[in-house]
Amino acid sequence: MRTTIKDIAQETGLSITTVSLILNGKGKKFPPDTKDLVLVAAKKLNYRPNQLAVGLLKKHTQTLGLIIPDISNVFFSEFAKGVEDRGREEQYSIILCNSDDRFHQEQQSINILADRGVDGIIIILSSESFGSKNEECLVALRATGKPVILADCFNEVVDFSTMEIDNRKGSALAVEHLVSLGHSRIACITGPQGLKSNKERMAGFTTTMRDHDIPLDDRLIFEGDFRYQSGYDGALKLLKDCPTAIYCHNDMMAFGALRALRDSGIRVPKDVSLVGFDDVFFSRYMEVPLTTVKQPIYKMGRQTASLLLEEIDNHEKAPQHVVFAPRLVVRRSEEHTSELQSRSAIS
Ligand code: RIB
Repeated sequence: MRTTIKDIAQETGLSITTVSLILNGKGKKFPPDTKDLVLVAAKKLNYRPNQLAVGLLKKHTQTLGLIIPDISNVFFSEFAKGVEDRGREEQYSIILCNSDDRFHQEQQSINILADRGVDGIIIILSSESFGSKNEECLVALRATGKPVILADCFNEVVDFSTMEIDNRKGSALAVEHLVSLGHSRIACITGPQGLKSNKERMAGFTTTMRDHDIPLDDRLIFEGDFRYQSGYDGALKLLKDCPTAIYCHNDMMAFGALRALRDSGIRVPKDVSLVGFDDVFFSRYMEVPLTTVKQPIYKMGRQTASLLLEEIDNHEKAPQHVVFAPRLVVRRSEEHTSELQSRSAIS
């Protein structure tokens, strides 16, 4: 059974009021011996305050809500770890909800977090919460009355703080690298079209291609959904139009593409080069270590939590908009086209 203040009072022979004052940090008037007596008994009996009761009293539950779209994507778990670690440093715990990239599940999660009285919410919006649903989603978030941070995927809104990577720059880095290796038949597996992050990645792709006078070919663009299977399906379809390189808008889809290429007897990077976006933990450990655009995912999670904690401390704080810089991590999944040609000449 859970230890209560009454149990500690019995153990120490002190009154419930005395024990309660000491455990709530209001026991200044008591001598050190009395305080020690209470604290030692609390430890011995493994006393933990009832957070619900404390929350009701202080109107503060020391909890942060985090809603992510896909718990099976390592990007989001690395991000969640950053949020949780930062929260823990300030004695906050996290309630994690997975929206499964669905608008209705996301709405439910927002309501659950509000009902649980979390002190603030971090949300990475689902791809269904764009277009016509976007306002509805923002209304639900505002209605919680809690500080909210929109992380990673959002449309331009001014009343919440936001955190994102420079998506356009990230794509430009990936495409510049492929072009520098002689590629011009560069295919692209995109994320869901509505997302701002994806639009920016797309803009980085098209602008860089145009800067190098490389014509855009619709047959070399496939719309994925950031999941492994769409990378697999996309690569199979794109292969029909003979790209020499495939740039995927996230690593999960690059893993799917890699599998599809292998299943089709195509070697990476010998026959087709592959570049991803995210640099999740597994990318460096793949059979062919993946060249990818790095997001400092864990750090982004930590900093997003810091933003939220600041807003919890000061509800009047003006929204902040943090943009992280991407970096290209060159590994072994891409190759110069001269290598491709010499190899095909040999075979
Ligand atoms: O892997 C998930 C992707 O969705 C990441 O690139 C992240 O930035 C989000 O847009």
